[in-house]
Amino acid sequence: MKITFLGHASLLIEAEKSSILVDPFISGNEKASGKINLQDLNPDYILVTHAHQDHVLDVETIAKSSGAVIVSNYEIAMYYEALGLKAHPMNHGGNWKFDFGNLKYVNAIHTSSFPDGTYGGQPGGFVISTEGKHIYIAGDTALTMDMKLIPNTTILDLAILPIGDNFTMGVDDAVIASDFVACDTILGYHYDTFGYIEIDHDLAINKFSTAGKTLHLLEIGASITI
Ligand code: NI
Ligand code: MN
Repeated sequence: MKITFLGHASLLIEAEKSSILVDPFISGNEKASGKINLQDLNPDYILVTHAHQDHVLDVETIAKSSGAVIVSNYEIAMYYEALGLKAHPMNHGGNWKFDFGNLKYVNAIHTSSFPDGTYGGQPGGFVISTEGKHIYIAGDTALTMDMKLIPNTTILDLAILPIGDNFTMGVDDAVIASDFVACDTILGYHYDTFGYIEIDHDLAINKFSTAGKTLHLLEIGASITI
């Protein structure tokens, strides 16, 4: 599967049978809006980890233009269904077999409310299994012992972890998180978009490297294939 970084915490995952967009925040991200055209995104699914503006800003626009199914927790799914969009509700610990493979909604430690104040349920992350590969998208989260549950059932090929600190884990906790989920290949996200979350890239890469791990930091629009 091919994973393209769309800036901040936005990802496009292209599997054999489906195109999966995660947490689209592009039109409001000046670092991404010149490089990524919303009109070019035509996903089958939009996964939403939680309801904060920097994760949902472009969900409605893209869901309307593409007809994509929005997959998130119950509260977020109901919010979008009320707008006339297609949604699939999940909740923590639940699995569902989609046409691309298995999806599990897993725990995250964070908060979750829509920009208009509507309750966005409890935030989460996703474990996606497709084409024999398994990836963990942590969402916005602190380091949490719950991460240790993931390798009990899933051997990950890639862990996508927030590393920007202040609102989520920083680099040091993300190194520990990668131990908790038993994965040595990490894609960092949720950094540099705002002043609060600017990081030193070389220092971050070195910290993972010292722990025997590889941290990928992609340019906006760049991809990795696993
Ligand atoms: Ni958030
Ligand atoms: Mn966020």
